[in-house]
Amino acid sequence: MRVLVTGGAGYVGSVVARRLADAGHRVHVVDDLSSGHRAAVGADIAFTQGDSGDFALVRDLLTRERIDAVVHTAGAARVEDTPPDSRRYVRQNVVNAIALADAMLDCGVTRLVFSSSAAVYGEPRELPITEAHPQAPINLYGTTKLIFERVLAAYHRGHGLDSIALRYFNAAGAVGELGEDHAPETHVVPLLLRAAAEGTTFSIFGTDYDTPDGSCVRDYVHVADLADAHVLALAHVDRVGHAAFNLGTGSGTSVKALVAAARKVTGARIAVESCPRRAGDPAVLVASAARAEAELGWLARASDPETILRSAWDWQRAHPQGYAERAAAKS
Ligand code: UFG
Repeated sequence: MRVLVTGGAGYVGSVVARRLADAGHRVHVVDDLSSGHRAAVGADIAFTQGDSGDFALVRDLLTRERIDAVVHTAGAARVEDTPPDSRRYVRQNVVNAIALADAMLDCGVTRLVFSSSAAVYGEPRELPITEAHPQAPINLYGTTKLIFERVLAAYHRGHGLDSIALRYFNAAGAVGELGEDHAPETHVVPLLLRAAAEGTTFSIFGTDYDTPDGSCVRDYVHVADLADAHVLALAHVDRVGHAAFNLGTGSGTSVKALVAAARKVTGARIAVESCPRRAGDPAVLVASAARAEAELGWLARASDPETILRSAWDWQRAHPQGYAERAAAKS
């Protein structure tokens, strides 16, 4: 298939583009590079710098490149209680996403795989979280993802747009030359490994949660496993019509357990400090991935914490300055 990957220079999007190309698809990335990295797009992948919410640009790309399907990973991704720029979140995650879907319908492209999030569920009422769990997001990020999921359901019923929403739990790890490099970085794995590399102190946000060791429990999924789910989703989206799938492992890891695993993988002591809870963090987020397994044949194969950390550590050591290093080397 000829596949357009929006946000394909970003952390998850770049790995998705790589796996799709490796699976034999012709991949075209569109990314405005507002947070992605040009160096994360392989030489064998076509690239257009631009906004995936630009209706005219996308319509032109879909037609000119004779695109069969779109994987939409672009968007604003930081989870915060009160984001500093709500309008940017709504514009990027809702308005731009709808413009993309409209451009697809305009061009007769009817297959879409969308990067959604566990954040659509909000505070869990039962664990593990299935796709039938009530959707009550507690932050604007989750709300914007949910709004677009609802738009997709309506576009399926009303206009025949087939779509699969993949609800990521905690994406982590690296794949070869592709790793996690956000500015500012807020995610636990790169921050933990930075502490290991630089000898700084890692902050544990909350040690008084109602969990076995008091720290938050998350369901970490290797970004390679996440990316493979997109390859499967593309293969099944026609048959599925419209559906959402959790991408998690069914197994939770606490922040303290992650620290212990990072000490083992890196050999570093890693000093930690107990800090107050971070606003908006649920105590436990663990997925049931039974539906993705049953209906897409997806299994998380590389998502045990040590494998994730080892891959991220290899990347961190090879690229201590992240992508900036490669950009500087080129100029
Ligand atoms: N944490 C720390 N110290 C840090 C950073 C994080 O203790 O320096 C803790 C957080 O409190 C949390 C856990 O590590 O308990 C994971 O935090 P991340 O920021 O890495 O990830 P989140 O769980 O907050 O968010 C992730 C994705 C979102 C997604 C969300 C829902 O980044 O896109 O999961 O599953 F919406």
